[in-house]
Amino acid sequence: MSNQKINPFKHEYFLGYINQVLPQFVKVHFPSSVLLNGFTHFGKEFNGGLVGSFVVIEGDKYGFLGRITELALPESERLSLNEKAFQTSDFHPTGKIEILLSFDLYNPFDVKKGLTAYPNIGAKVFVSSGELVQEYMSRFGVRSGELANTIAIGSLVSSPDTKVKINLQSIFGRHCAIVGTTGGGKSYTVSKLVESLIATGNKAILIDATGEYSGSFDKIKTVDIGNGENIFHYSQLTIDDLFFLLKPSPRTQTPKLMEAIRSLKMVRLAGEVTQIEHNGEVIPIEDGLLKKNGKPKKPYDVFYYRKIQAIENGMADFDFMKLSHQLSAECVYDNGTVWGGVAPNDVSYCVSLISRVTNLANTPELNQIFGFQQEKTENDLTDVVNQFISIENTETNLLRLNLENVKYDFQVRETLVNAIGKFLLSKARNGSFKESPVVIFIDEAHQFLNKSIKDEYFDSKPLDAFDSIAKECRKHGLFLCIATQMPRDIPQGTLSQMGTFIAHRLINHFDKEAVSNACSTANKNTLDFLPILGEGEAILTGVDFPMPIIMKFDEPNIKPDSSTPKLN
Ligand SMILES: Nc1ncnc2c1ncn2[C@@H]1O[C@H](COP(=O)(O)OP(=O)(O)OP(=O)(O)O)[C@@H](O)[C@H]1O
Ligand SMILES: [Mg+2]
Repeated sequence: MSNQKINPFKHEYFLGYINQVLPQFVKVHFPSSVLLNGFTHFGKEFNGGLVGSFVVIEGDKYGFLGRITELALPESERLSLNEKAFQTSDFHPTGKIEILLSFDLYNPFDVKKGLTAYPNIGAKVFVSSGELVQEYMSRFGVRSGELANTIAIGSLVSSPDTKVKINLQSIFGRHCAIVGTTGGGKSYTVSKLVESLIATGNKAILIDATGEYSGSFDKIKTVDIGNGENIFHYSQLTIDDLFFLLKPSPRTQTPKLMEAIRSLKMVRLAGEVTQIEHNGEVIPIEDGLLKKNGKPKKPYDVFYYRKIQAIENGMADFDFMKLSHQLSAECVYDNGTVWGGVAPNDVSYCVSLISRVTNLANTPELNQIFGFQQEKTENDLTDVVNQFISIENTETNLLRLNLENVKYDFQVRETLVNAIGKFLLSKARNGSFKESPVVIFIDEAHQFLNKSIKDEYFDSKPLDAFDSIAKECRKHGLFLCIATQMPRDIPQGTLSQMGTFIAHRLINHFDKEAVSNACSTANKNTLDFLPILGEGEAILTGVDFPMPIIMKFDEPNIKPDSSTPKLN
């Protein structure tokens, strides 16, 4: 393909001459308005006069691909405007062209990033053929010598005959954000991308917030969460996650909670024994609780330092059902080398925390997700994920986590998704995705990202697993593709890591700003099209794209079912 000869400049497509060159754009002068009428060539229609059309400019050393962004008549001719005159050559319109990229005249596929040169006054302007643009697009993000691995995702808005085929790496290789107002087509686009990705043998995990992706994708495994069948067992949560749910007050409750968790972890590590012993001194273990009341500290300290790694591993791997009782057992005086009797002050400080713990353990909505009342089983969500991402798994390419039945209360959705993110993050750091990369799709991402857990005591603590994934996981082979209505909902840190933007219709000024800020290559002129995009139409832009592409996505085979109820 790279050796294919192509002549971008065909005199049949001649439009006019450059008559003005400015830093941001150039102007073209059309010798005759007739040239602006649609013309047909080899059965293809070129609407030369349409704003949005691609043109090529023939320079001395370089050629340029540009887009017409404005058409006008000279002041002097405006007054005499009439139909007949326009059909003859009496008018000499001018146009504004945004230069998108420059290329080597003798090797048109050798694209120069950034503007290395400008066309000269008098340079010829031609309508660009669809094939040329298509060839360019499919090469974006492909390093020389590499083979492009492209997927066909849609067609150009300006010339619907021209298919948009994009290199997979250039869409997903640097994380991807899909934004747009409601009804713009984000979910359809997600579905299209998921389909294309798994069709090429890649793996994806789809976090389905609303259950709209229930269609029968190829090689899919769906896991329904929230009905008690598939549990993300609490022992796989981090202590931080648990803190999100328990919200201990920082000064009085947090230290006690930490102590209780340490004690319970020690009980678990001690195994079947009924006491922790050192040189004849003992601390009893009764009913799964460490009874510090009136006992020496020495055996505790010795055991703690022997097992410090397991105890301080940051995971919630202890018996949660014992936590409320252990918290009570922690409320004893500290008399230096020994613990004293019950400390009533501590008890009163901890009452509200203890009741939150009991609540958590007895709330069905939470139990059906985190399994506080049960042991970890073999088909825990983490096991399912492990199985899915393992290289041996060639059966399934898409793991859909259906959160339709996960309640919105207790911030359980964001905690769960964050916990899944953390789990994947640690997998990524351990190199699990090096051999077989995975793209995580999160539709309705505003439900999960940019969240922090707040309450009257707790300083807000961010749920930032996906921030970390965005920042560090590209090199580990874990890629993020998030869809959300408002770019403002994505944390700034995550947004700035997004290398690819698919922007559907966006009306709000601040949202437009967010896209243009996060995306250095987004050309201001192109972003003007954002408010007028139709359903399924989008501007595709990003670091690997020398120019933004205004395209319409193909309808996916499997359509998301998000149909808004209609008023009668
Ligand atoms: N590529 C497309 N081709 C044709 N029609 C489309 C396309 N994309 C979207 N549509 C139409 O637009 C409607 C809304 O699309 P979609 O559900 O993807 O929007 P959304 O941006 O996800 O909205 P929301 O923010 O409400 O979830 C679809 O039901 C479909 O009729
Ligand atoms: Mg949607």
